[in-house]
Amino acid sequence: MKDVYLKGINILIMKKTGVLAVLLLGLGLWACKSETDEKGPYFGNGFKNGWVDQHSAVIWTRLTAMPEMNADGPEFIPISKKEAQQLAKTGDSTQIWSAQVPQGAILDSMQGACPGMLGEVKLTYRPKNGGATKTTDWARVDPEKDFTFQWQLTDLQSNTIYEIEILAKAIGAKQVFSKVKGQFKTAPDENETQESIAFSVVSCHDYNRKDLQGGHKIYQAMEADSIDFYIHTGDIEYYDKPNPYAMTESMMHYKWNRLFALPIQRDFYASHTTYFMKDDHDTLKDDAFPGNTYGTVDFERGLDIFDKVQFPSAEKTYKKLRWGKDLELWILEGRNYRSKNTDPDGAAKTILGAEQKEWLFRTLSASDARYKIVVSPSPILGPDRGKGKYDNLSNSSYAHEGDEVRAFLNQFDDVFIVTGDRHWQFVTQIPNTNLWEFGTGSGADIHAGGWDPEDVRPQHRFLRVKGGYLLVRVIETTAGPELRFELKDVDGKLKHQEVFLR
Ligand SMILES: [Fe+2]
Repeated sequence: MKDVYLKGINILIMKKTGVLAVLLLGLGLWACKSETDEKGPYFGNGFKNGWVDQHSAVIWTRLTAMPEMNADGPEFIPISKKEAQQLAKTGDSTQIWSAQVPQGAILDSMQGACPGMLGEVKLTYRPKNGGATKTTDWARVDPEKDFTFQWQLTDLQSNTIYEIEILAKAIGAKQVFSKVKGQFKTAPDENETQESIAFSVVSCHDYNRKDLQGGHKIYQAMEADSIDFYIHTGDIEYYDKPNPYAMTESMMHYKWNRLFALPIQRDFYASHTTYFMKDDHDTLKDDAFPGNTYGTVDFERGLDIFDKVQFPSAEKTYKKLRWGKDLELWILEGRNYRSKNTDPDGAAKTILGAEQKEWLFRTLSASDARYKIVVSPSPILGPDRGKGKYDNLSNSSYAHEGDEVRAFLNQFDDVFIVTGDRHWQFVTQIPNTNLWEFGTGSGADIHAGGWDPEDVRPQHRFLRVKGGYLLVRVIETTAGPELRFELKDVDGKLKHQEVFLR
């Protein structure tokens, strides 16, 4: 089945089991094509959920021309970092293209490509423990949005595992061509005590620095932790790293499609409640801020590709998440509202933006959850490297807002900060304060670095320059709910833990 556009009129042609069937739409024009040479659409990028709370969720999917990424095909021409920087400044797509793509090749045929395909999708969802099955109408994926489609579900029950199934077919076809299944869990209500809650937090990984052919080891380790949900704090992929340096929009999409075709990631996202945050490298480039461009793409477009195309979308990209009686999280946005990093520091300079900061301070003060966790895409306490760092609230370039946020959080002895961004694992406790910060580290050992392992500062409770992830648990004990932070290596082995009973 193939979609043909002729003078704006959509004509669908189908030949089935030797009998020619012609579907005529629009003004009565005809054409025909054999079904035997038609394949797809497939779910090469699976699907993802996002922004799940007690009663709502967003489901994202993309239709592809192949069930898996292209294993063969030409590789990108390697270029030096310096050459890439020069190309990025030119903003010339022809130069960017010819420097990295072999002559005559197209992006869809490159190794790792997972090209999109037109088609229709339909979602079915139902509580796993019984209850009504709901089914949406068929809807077309949007070629303007890289062949993706999203559903906003708003009629869910709290604390419930939902099984979902998505079907795909060619436009106008009767027969379903592909099917994909999975599940996610909604959050428990604020008065529901949970015997045990577990969630994992990861940061900083990409296709090039994966530690298994099919993806990253951490996903297999987290599977064994039986988590309720997962948070990625950003730098999910890196536009400004080679193979290729993604300086055009089509190259950016190529990188997402390749990453989400990794079977380990794809399977994990299909079966867990997930929250995706973004940072600099998956918005545009290192330390990106408003006014920046990377090749042919500007900062605003970079935000849109992440917020509106490649991930589940929401009106606001920050969220308060209550998970039962004892736990509340604040998932922060770190790019959309920030000042230019190069602005002089002062009261007007911000990463959070006035609206998000007011919301954070107000809702955190009002929360009656036993434990409160602020999840930030970049450090609030640090310590961070001093030299050349001016991107986060622990850097001197954002000292004014950093001090304001730290002073606010220091009022509470039941608030903890979790951060990604830094490529080493750490636990920071600023002496004589209530301030704690847990750094997840990078998602693979080959991705770790950026801090001298011997440079242990007074505020470091733990320091490890390796990859892994953070597991957070709230466990009911006879003494009350206990909060546990466990820093794990890429295989899920415990490397450090801190336990709190408040
Ligand atoms: Fe990173």
